[in-house]
Formats: sequence, C-alpha cells, structure tokens
Amino acid sequence: MKTFHTIKELKEEIRSLKKSGNCIGFVPTMGFLHEGHKSLIERAVKENDIVVVSIFVNPTQFGPTEDLDAYPRDLEHDKKLCKDAGASIIFNPDPKEMYIEGACSTVNVSGLTEGLCGAKRPVHFGGVCTVVSKLFNIVTPDKAYFGEKDAQQLAVIKRMVMDLNFDIEIIGCPIIREEDGLAKSSRNTYLSSEERKAALILNKSLTLAKKALISGEKNVNNITDIIKNSLNTEPLAKIDYVEIVDSLNLKPVTSTDNSILIAIAVYIGKTRLIDNFTWTN
Ligand code: PAJ
Repeated sequence: MKTFHTIKELKEEIRSLKKSGNCIGFVPTMGFLHEGHKSLIERAVKENDIVVVSIFVNPTQFGPTEDLDAYPRDLEHDKKLCKDAGASIIFNPDPKEMYIEGACSTVNVSGLTEGLCGAKRPVHFGGVCTVVSKLFNIVTPDKAYFGEKDAQQLAVIKRMVMDLNFDIEIIGCPIIREEDGLAKSSRNTYLSSEERKAALILNKSLTLAKKALISGEKNVNNITDIIKNSLNTEPLAKIDYVEIVDSLNLKPVTSTDNSILIAIAVYIGKTRLIDNFTWTN
C-alpha cells in the first residue's frame, strides 16, 4: 500500500495504473477510520482492481462553531485499517495542497441540501460537494463508495454526479453499527461513558418507529411523535431534528406511500449524532 500527500504524485500513479487497464474504486473519508469505513473499502476492493482511500479532514465543510480542530485524527491506525481492508493507495493531502491560495470556485447543489442537516449546517454541503468534486477530478475513479449513514450526503453526491456529468458510479453502502445498535461514527469518540449509554436512544427510537411502520402505522405525524417522545425520555439527549422525507427528493412527506427516509440528528451532551433508516411500504 502506498501513501501520497501531493496531488501531482497521486495523479501520476493513477495515470499509469489506468494505462495498464486497472479499474479504480474510491472511498473518500475524513479519517479516524472504523468498521463503517472499512465496510466501504472492503466492498470497493471486491469490485475494483485498485482502491484509493482519501483521508482528509476537509475544513470547508465545518461551520465556524463546529469541531474542525477537535476532529479526531490517527493516521497510523488508519493506514493499518486500510491495509487490512485491502486498499492499494492512501491519499492524505495537507489543507494547503487541496485549497490553493486565492481559490474562489465552489460546487453547490441546491434543493436537496436545504432540509435535514443542510438546514442546521448551512456551509456543510457546499464544502462536501466542493471537496468531493476536487477529489473526483484528482482520483478519476470508476466507482465511488459512500455510506447510507450520511443519507443526505449520499443523495446530494448522486445528484451532483448526474448534474455535472461525472463519469463515476456512486455506490451506497449500509450503516454499520456497534453490537448494541449505535451507528459507528468517528464522533462517538467524543462521548463520555455516560453519554455513550445515552446515545443508544437514537437507534432505540428509530427501532420503535420501524416497529410502528411494520404494524401498519401510516400517519407521518404519529411516527414523528413516537421518535420524539422516545428521544425525550433520555435526559442527555437534545433533539436537533426528526424528519420524515421522500427518500429521493428529500422533501417532507405527508404519507408513507412512496419510499421514505426517517432521519434524526440528536445532541448527546455536546456531540451531534445522526442516524436514519429508509422505509418502503
Ligand atoms: P466521513 O465522516 O469520514 O465518512 C466517510 C464515509 O464513511 C462516508 O461515506 C460515510 O457515510 C461512511 N460512513 C461513516 N460511518 C459509517 C457507518 N457507520 N456505516 C457505513 N458507512 C459509514 O463523510 C465524510 O467523511 C465526508 O463528508 C467526505 C465525504 C469524506 C467529504 O469530506
């Protein structure tokens, strides 16, 4: 496995790999990798000749009061995880390498970014779309892998790839959870042991909603209430949002007739966690 820190060196390597007919899979990440990231890498390894993993804590997708400086980093651990998962290349650029002085071009996807996390984190998806476009242009993959854990991000990237004619297949991968149901996240590391227990309320509340849907509940407000009431039983949890939206256009729905995304964001202490599931009647 090779690690590259500069765009020029990585591009040269990719060019020669492509000349020899290799198909390239790409997994963009912000590092502090866990089993969720690993599942994406392993899937990419199965479906491509060469897998590139980018590890870059992208400053432009963090708001001014968010956790950019505190975001956990451990490159040695990440290298081992990538190697064990079968990746061939790590791309780990410096922010100065990714954003040249005077840069004034950005990529923005409208509509899909207006609700859910986009409503709460106004600069977030502009930063994500800009960095992912840049990474796509640098890595030029055939396929790129994203987790359903960030359901809105996955929908936005799929739209961006369609709209801007990127010749890349976007593949969504299922949410990987801890044994007790908490969705794996690099941010789980912020949780104290008391908060870690409290964080189980996210998956518990979504599971209650799923059970209600299975038993035939079709009223969107009732399902929202089930989730909110459950989240409110946990004193350490503060709801950021509970939304039920159309799983394709991410617009709020009033019925469960089409495929829906049930998405939540909850503060456990100071840590903001997200979780979701998709439901089709
Ligand atoms: P990051 O949070 O590091 O996540 C990288 C990828 O791993 C994303 O596609 C995310 O959805 C996926 N992932 C995270 N936790 C997961 C889990 N528990 N199960 C399955 N997949 C999971 O998302 C980002 O980085 C950034 O926004 C990025 C796309 C790299 C742009 O900077």
